[in-house]
Amino acid sequence: MPADFDTIVNLAKKRGFVFQSSEIYGGLRSAYDYGPLGVELLRNVKDQWWRFMVQMRDDVVGIDSAILQSPEVWFASGHVDSFSDPLVECKECNARHRLDKLADTNTCPTCGKRGTFTEPKEFNLMFKTHMGPVETEENQIWLRPETAQGIFINFANVQRTARMKLPFGIAQIGKSFRNEITPGQFVFRTREFEQMEMEYFCHPNDAADKFQEWIETRQAWYLDLGMTADNLRLREHEAEELAHYAAGTYDVEYLFPWGWDELEGIANRTDFDLKAHIERSGEDLTYFDQETNERFVPFVIEPAGGATRTTFAFLIDAYTEEEVNSESRVVLKLDPRLSPVKVAVLPLSKKPDLVETTKRVADSIRGRWQIEVDITQSIGRRYRRQDEIGTPFCVTVDFDSLDDNQVTVRDRDTMAQDRIPIENLETYLADRLPR
Ligand code: GAP
Repeated sequence: MPADFDTIVNLAKKRGFVFQSSEIYGGLRSAYDYGPLGVELLRNVKDQWWRFMVQMRDDVVGIDSAILQSPEVWFASGHVDSFSDPLVECKECNARHRLDKLADTNTCPTCGKRGTFTEPKEFNLMFKTHMGPVETEENQIWLRPETAQGIFINFANVQRTARMKLPFGIAQIGKSFRNEITPGQFVFRTREFEQMEMEYFCHPNDAADKFQEWIETRQAWYLDLGMTADNLRLREHEAEELAHYAAGTYDVEYLFPWGWDELEGIANRTDFDLKAHIERSGEDLTYFDQETNERFVPFVIEPAGGATRTTFAFLIDAYTEEEVNSESRVVLKLDPRLSPVKVAVLPLSKKPDLVETTKRVADSIRGRWQIEVDITQSIGRRYRRQDEIGTPFCVTVDFDSLDDNQVTVRDRDTMAQDRIPIENLETYLADRLPR
């Protein structure tokens, strides 16, 4: 049963996960700011992706390429000609819609009138800007609409300097920009967002196997981080929905409150991009296999996910309402690796010696985890707040702590409490908080 959309959005706003961009000026549609908890959750999602995709593998290295690239990149990649969505405008109410996303292509969902659409026109999604002080056509550039091209244009640089042998991957996390016709569903579809992409280069004969491998590997990542298996599925693209560069694509989809929708695409991009850059740049982006004496253009398998969108999905998936002792509580059952705050340290009361010990305990573990100290309100309310933001452990300093140097550790999910000597606290938590 998917969580209610408004409930999640309200929690995200109320607790400081996500704010509307430029809120004090009435808000800028389809751009969002991540607050103190949101930035931690987003960083944890990206860190887990990097750990899984780069750190834990010896066949993948990372890169951080510029958002601004030569316009030639986008001519070569086909984005100037083909990165567009079909746009229609309602002649009655002037609302603009993406034709391929309309349930009924003859009825305007804004005003309900039939047969009022203009002829569809292809609308290019790339944001234009100018480089330098003169706004001429030669100075026009685009903000990148995907991080992938920054990888393709550095294929030879990375392969040579990191001495990589096929098959190998280059991973990147970073911002991308698309002038979406219909942004919406909170941070699901925005005009500025973050992607987590990896281009896996291989011999053309290996592409089919590697495609299958990455489809399985990527699903395993979501499941390992605790996403509900019933809320995940794989969907193969129909021929007509394939991107201009793809020979085949599977989407990992999540059951969002509005239905199944895309989390990540895993595509077989063949040798499309490297060939296109070889042709336009005149540079040699082929690979020479010294064992077989063969020179060829590698094929590419691309798992491409959205960091901001995935963060939203983890938030939705973790949201739980449950009854405890005939009272309802809201808990974000996030995997502890994703939780924004790992440990809350709470004095039982505001008495100065309790607060002082609380700060000392917090400081002793602060270097290792994201810690929050909260001294306001009743202890029950403070536990509830930590449950609501997904904090796996609350450490309570009480009056006995001053004498016996022990604290109580409360588990978010079971609510079981353990009494632990302060000197053993770090080890106790380390055993229960995986990296
Ligand atoms: N390099 C391939 C590529 O960019 P894509 O399917 O267009 O493929 C990959 O994008 C992922 O980026 C999507 O699965 C989604 O998670 C994320 N994404 C794409 N457009 C987005 C948007 N407007 N807002 C938020 N995330 C977006």
